[in-house]
Amino acid sequence: DLSWGKQPRSSDSPSNPMPIPALEIGFVPTMGALHTGHLSLIERARRENKLVVVSIFVNPLQFAPGEDFSRYPRQLERDRSLCEGAGVDVLFTPTPEEMGVTASDQTHIQPPQALVSGLCGRSRPGHFEGVATIVTKLLNLVQPDRSYFGQKDAQQVAIIRRLVQDLKLPVEIIACPIIREANGLALSSRNQYLSDEEKIQATALYQGLANAQNLFRTGERSSATLVQAVKLELANVPVIHPEYIELVDPMTLKPLETVTDEGLLALAARIGSTRLIDNCVLRGS
Ligand code: PAJ
Repeated sequence: DLSWGKQPRSSDSPSNPMPIPALEIGFVPTMGALHTGHLSLIERARRENKLVVVSIFVNPLQFAPGEDFSRYPRQLERDRSLCEGAGVDVLFTPTPEEMGVTASDQTHIQPPQALVSGLCGRSRPGHFEGVATIVTKLLNLVQPDRSYFGQKDAQQVAIIRRLVQDLKLPVEIIACPIIREANGLALSSRNQYLSDEEKIQATALYQGLANAQNLFRTGERSSATLVQAVKLELANVPVIHPEYIELVDPMTLKPLETVTDEGLLALAARIGSTRLIDNCVLRGS
């Protein structure tokens, strides 16, 4: 009997035999202070789904004490009109109580040590546990078919892909390219902390990655040499304090000595009190 699994839905009456098309849901989780980077994820979700859900939630679980949780930009009315303009169907702005992050919920998601111990995880203990926990809750609440993340946060993408695979969450994770200013600076809500001068100085991060990318294109495959190319560029700008510059496997985040197939060249640096991250993927021809 092939009718199993094709039961009429409650709204399908015999007098209305038209099947209801599947409502494909695309979901873009954010912490707000939306910029063109966020909007690029929303546009992609818009193209690929019937319904687009955006969440705005400044997640306390992913900020360590002493980080910028309290000064993180909050611009809900501006964000709301940007979402309206971008054709977002549902804007989900839960409270901390609703997300169970105050005290009520006690189950937390622990991503594998191998994925959280390096790169940003080294200086931000607990950060990716907070991201993984909130993203799991959001995915369960929204139940999207596809969820969109920026490659800007490459470690976050690797962790969420692994989480979705391991917990068998029924969602497709789609990573989207980094959106940059014309001068190369990767867009970030935290760029609001930078002075005009710091914004110009911060373009050295992109310049360093671009130099390494060029070396890679001419055949250089040694991580040490490619990382050194970034270091040299950053050394020209004394106000930039690199935290790490590393070449790792994009999926496992394990350090690479040479790039055979694909490498993620990722960095974090401080300018003044602002911490910025950027990266590029080096891919063999
Ligand atoms: P947030 O920093 O607001 O970023 C939301 C999404 O936008 C992330 O997937 C991020 O990678 C993407 N994004 C940010 N800047 C981008 C850029 N310049 N180009 C392309 N995409 C960009 O990341 C988070 O929020 C949180 O950790 C969250 C996933 C919402 C969980 O709290």
